Amino acid sequence: MSLDQQVVHLKHREGSEEGTRYVAVASGKGGVGKTVFSVNMGRCFAESGGRVLIIDADLGLSNVHLMLGLTPKKNLTHFFFGEATFEEIVVKVSDNLHFISSGSGVVELTRLPRDQVLSLVRRLQELAEGSYDLVILDTPPGIHEDTLAVVSAADIPLILTTPEPTAVADAYALIKVVNRECGVESFHLVVNKVEGEKEGRKVYESVRLLTDKFTTAKVEFLGTIRYRKNLIRKIIDQDPFEKGFTADVYNILSNMNLGVKPKRRSFWDALIGRLLRR
Ligand SMILES: Nc1ncnc2c1ncn2[C@@H]1O[C@H](COP(=O)(O)OP(=O)(O)O)[C@@H](O)[C@H]1O
Ligand SMILES: [Mg+2]
Repeated sequence: MSLDQQVVHLKHREGSEEGTRYVAVASGKGGVGKTVFSVNMGRCFAESGGRVLIIDADLGLSNVHLMLGLTPKKNLTHFFFGEATFEEIVVKVSDNLHFISSGSGVVELTRLPRDQVLSLVRRLQELAEGSYDLVILDTPPGIHEDTLAVVSAADIPLILTTPEPTAVADAYALIKVVNRECGVESFHLVVNKVEGEKEGRKVYESVRLLTDKFTTAKVEFLGTIRYRKNLIRKIIDQDPFEKGFTADVYNILSNMNLGVKPKRRSFWDALIGRLLRR
């Protein structure tokens, strides 16, 4: 299905609770390209007519705003504590592409009384579900509990790696933990910074070998992104959309089945359920 068709498909469900898809972009190792991938994915989807919200959930190295050159004055924490309205925390990159910074919002949320947490989450859910077709969550690397919560709550857990052995080992470790501890069975893999398609496929096969043998997870290959030496310059100029990179991301999105059935529990219920357990 082309990306345009996928957008039409999602739009068709508008108004129903099933309309919004949540994609978590995650990795075992840092620096593999999650943030630059997330903003490119958001833009591709927005240009095809979808309404997109990127949530920067990387608390430690929050940097979606740095890449885009737009700094939000307030974040999700302010919203949760009644210090900002939803409109005030949304940064509009373009008509269809918005982003919010989570600050330490989601973690702070768990300090509030349970009733209040639930009503805030309901509100956030209504706002997100009424306004966006796709929510992209840019997560911190590793297997921290907050990351596990976001990845396991998402409709589509998308794991990014590079061909470096350390990144591949960490990608496998992340899949294993999310599979074992959160019961997630279905993952998508993207291999970034490759020389060519073949190298990416080899990386996928090596991850598959391990996940097939030691986990119950099914890992689907979404494709590769080539190493583009011009990208760094573009990122420095706060315009992280290098032509070749964006084209690769577009292909990956076309391979992604956004029509995938959402979980029975909504993203927000699953997220809070997991965070409040500890
Ligand atoms: N396909 C690519 N080609 C060249 N450089 C890349 C590519 N993908 C990412 N990078 C570089 O890797 C760095 C880390 O990317 P980033 O998106 O910040 O990673 P993460 O969010 O996973 O920590 C960026 O500064 C970017 O220059
Ligand atoms: Mg990042």
